[in-house]
Amino acid sequence: MSTIAAGSPASPAAVLCGLAGYVPPRVVTNEHLARRLDTDEAWIRTRTGIRRRHVVETGQATSDLAVEAGRRALASAGTDTVDAVVVATATPDHTCPATAPAVAARLGLTGAAAFDVGAVCTGFVYGLASAAGLIAAGVSERVLLIGADTYSTIVDPLDRANAIIFGDGAGAVVLRAGHRAEPGAVGHFDLHSDGAHEDLIMVAAGGSRQRSRPGEPSREERHFRMRGKEVYRHAVTRMAESARAALDRAGWKIDDVDHFVPHQANLRILHSVADDLGLPRERCVTHVESVGNTGAASIPLALSDTAARGIVRPGDRLLLTAFGGGLTWGSCLLTWPSSLPRPERTTP
Ligand code: UT7
Repeated sequence: MSTIAAGSPASPAAVLCGLAGYVPPRVVTNEHLARRLDTDEAWIRTRTGIRRRHVVETGQATSDLAVEAGRRALASAGTDTVDAVVVATATPDHTCPATAPAVAARLGLTGAAAFDVGAVCTGFVYGLASAAGLIAAGVSERVLLIGADTYSTIVDPLDRANAIIFGDGAGAVVLRAGHRAEPGAVGHFDLHSDGAHEDLIMVAAGGSRQRSRPGEPSREERHFRMRGKEVYRHAVTRMAESARAALDRAGWKIDDVDHFVPHQANLRILHSVADDLGLPRERCVTHVESVGNTGAASIPLALSDTAARGIVRPGDRLLLTAFGGGLTWGSCLLTWPSSLPRPERTTP
């Protein structure tokens, strides 16, 4: 009997075969925010690069966006079956159970394995690694991975530092079993965490820590809190480190990268990381202007937007790098597949 280790050159690779994004129709511009918060349009634009974001209507939840992105990604892949549905999110519909089984059921995928990945804004990169692992281990032939978040449901609308940054959205990919050398193959990876800084990005209430204490949580504890300046510093350093580590592992040089697709946290962060890597800014994909920081949805939404605009071509080499709460960070390399249908644009 021969044994094939997961991730070995002989085991199947995950190959990208479907891609789509979805944002809810309601748009909130910087001017809208400036009417109700102590801020102004120019501050938001110059400090973050963001001009507008999309947000859910009252009653809409993360799964509603995930289902729409998932439906479009399955159509893009030309399939209506997968073995596993993975949802990367920090804003699940409920604390318990996971959101993925409900998403799978609404997509007609009852019976498929379904689970959530909780790595906050690094969730999509962790999700790619999880999906690639399922495929490499022979557990799944085809996986639907969705990054979806509705930060508007957890950010305090009166918290001007955070209310301006986040938007809601979902992005999805379908991955199939294939060969490491074929265009569309996902990997190498680089993944990390540092829980000593978990307090930098947190919703303090709602989990077992708060629930096992007597008393009601305060407004501050019930909402998403981020210590922006400190997060900014960690993000710039960790994203550059991780990008270099993934490139080293694959034997790629920075000049080999046709498109750098970072988590869309803040335009200044993206440009600092690109500059630090010595990568021309034109090769850094930016979508944050139109949708804000959409958490685990940001990389697949940026990918889908870039593909929709015809910027990425078969065989192009991509570097995806994310950073988020946990803290977590990581990177993944990808070569663009030869026959991926062009996704619909999610924003004008
Ligand atoms: O997705 C996960 C990873 N997330 C990130 O990577 C986000 C990282 N952080 C950031 O993007 C930025 O830190 C922010 C956009 C959150 C803030 O930008 P900043 O340049 O770091 O501003 P700051 O927090 O240092 O604040 C500068 C000033 C402060 O006033 P003082 O203390 O200098 O008087 C803030 O009170 O700007 C003030 N300020 C605002 N002013 C107008 C903070 N928010 C606003 C606002 N409008 N919305």
